[in-house]
Amino acid sequence: MKTIASAIHACALIVTLSGLGATSEVNYDESKVPGYVLPDPLLLPNGSRIENSRAWLKHGRPHTLDLFAEHVYGRSPGRPAGMRFKTLSEDKNALGGKAIRKQILIMFTGQEDGPSLELLVYIPKNAPRPVPVFLGLNFYGNQSVHTDPGIRITRSWMRDSNDGSVVNNRATEKSRGLQATRWAIDKALERGFAVATFYYGDIEPDHADGWKKGVRAALSKNGSATVFKPGDWGAIAAWAWGLSRAMDYIERDRALDAKRVVVFGHSRQGKAALWAGASDRRFAIVISNDSGCGGAALSRRRFGETVERINTSFPHWFCGNFKKYNGNEDALPVDQHQLIALIAPRPVYVASAQEDLWADPKGEFLAAKHAEPVYALFKLPGLGVTEMPPVNTPVGNCIAYHIRSGKHDITDYDWEQYFRFAEKHFGMTQRR
Ligand code: GCU
Repeated sequence: MKTIASAIHACALIVTLSGLGATSEVNYDESKVPGYVLPDPLLLPNGSRIENSRAWLKHGRPHTLDLFAEHVYGRSPGRPAGMRFKTLSEDKNALGGKAIRKQILIMFTGQEDGPSLELLVYIPKNAPRPVPVFLGLNFYGNQSVHTDPGIRITRSWMRDSNDGSVVNNRATEKSRGLQATRWAIDKALERGFAVATFYYGDIEPDHADGWKKGVRAALSKNGSATVFKPGDWGAIAAWAWGLSRAMDYIERDRALDAKRVVVFGHSRQGKAALWAGASDRRFAIVISNDSGCGGAALSRRRFGETVERINTSFPHWFCGNFKKYNGNEDALPVDQHQLIALIAPRPVYVASAQEDLWADPKGEFLAAKHAEPVYALFKLPGLGVTEMPPVNTPVGNCIAYHIRSGKHDITDYDWEQYFRFAEKHFGMTQRR
């Protein structure tokens, strides 16, 4: 079996990105990863060490969370007081009769014409109530996750696509099911999970000026004239905030088990899932699929996408302060292993793809590995290995990891591992 080390060796090269405004080079050569020292997750600013889980929860966790809010993702507001929910549709015989399909409008200011998200929920009809849930954002609208003709087509802004699936920044009928290979909805239902999702652009369109039409403006008293402070929320924090609002709905739907919600995401949405899981302890399990820089990968390795690169290409994703660390990763008061540690004692799964070197698979593995001391405070087993496993060989217990063969994507292989992981930690009967 080919290991990631040999894959990286085979691809060892330095690429200069031109025309994108960044001056730095992209390193894919393991031997050129600079030496670095990771912040110790158990060390407090006064020099004392956290020795047990109580001290972690009382001091370490709030301190670490605050550093991530201030320096990386930015601070988000809580649940808006006037928020309301409206059932837009409910079909008790969806997908050939095996599921209930609900479409829920979550109105952040309580008004239908105000900022909102539209949550699509499938609930398996014959699973014992309440049902555990997989909750994740989607990239191209709810109608893209399945061919089901009953899914309402997302109305929010979307980037145009030349295949006719998005025209004049609006999704068309042609986009129905376009991302279905990334969504194992039928399999989830068969295994007794509900699936809930919404379009991330409902919260904020994903471009530099998108915030003006998203919740970051709508919930601010100055609207699109808002001037953000360097520690205010960026788009990733806003998407994560949306996941928490979806959780608010799940808590009030009696068919769903709010104590068994898996928050997951791929790529930039994996970054959002990690931040949602780190900052909102109601999420029982967190899954990061190929989340890379600003997600599960260690920033200090500067392998593949770097802090400077991501802040240049996506200036709206992180808070203003994060830009201080462009080319200056060693000054970051945190690194991404501590983001994973914030999820403790809840189970977390980090996944990489062998050809996805941009996301730095080894950096993702190492972040998971270096979160272990915090899980150990809870006497919980982490990865159980010291070296990166071969491809397609999942490892771990409360922290799990795999590197799949293939590209940057979320595939049936990934889903199979996530179902098993959730079944194990939720104590569901394992059928396979
Ligand atoms: C870009 C970006 C990554 C991100 C990815 C995605 O490649 O540089 O940080 O994870 O898009 O969301 O697909």
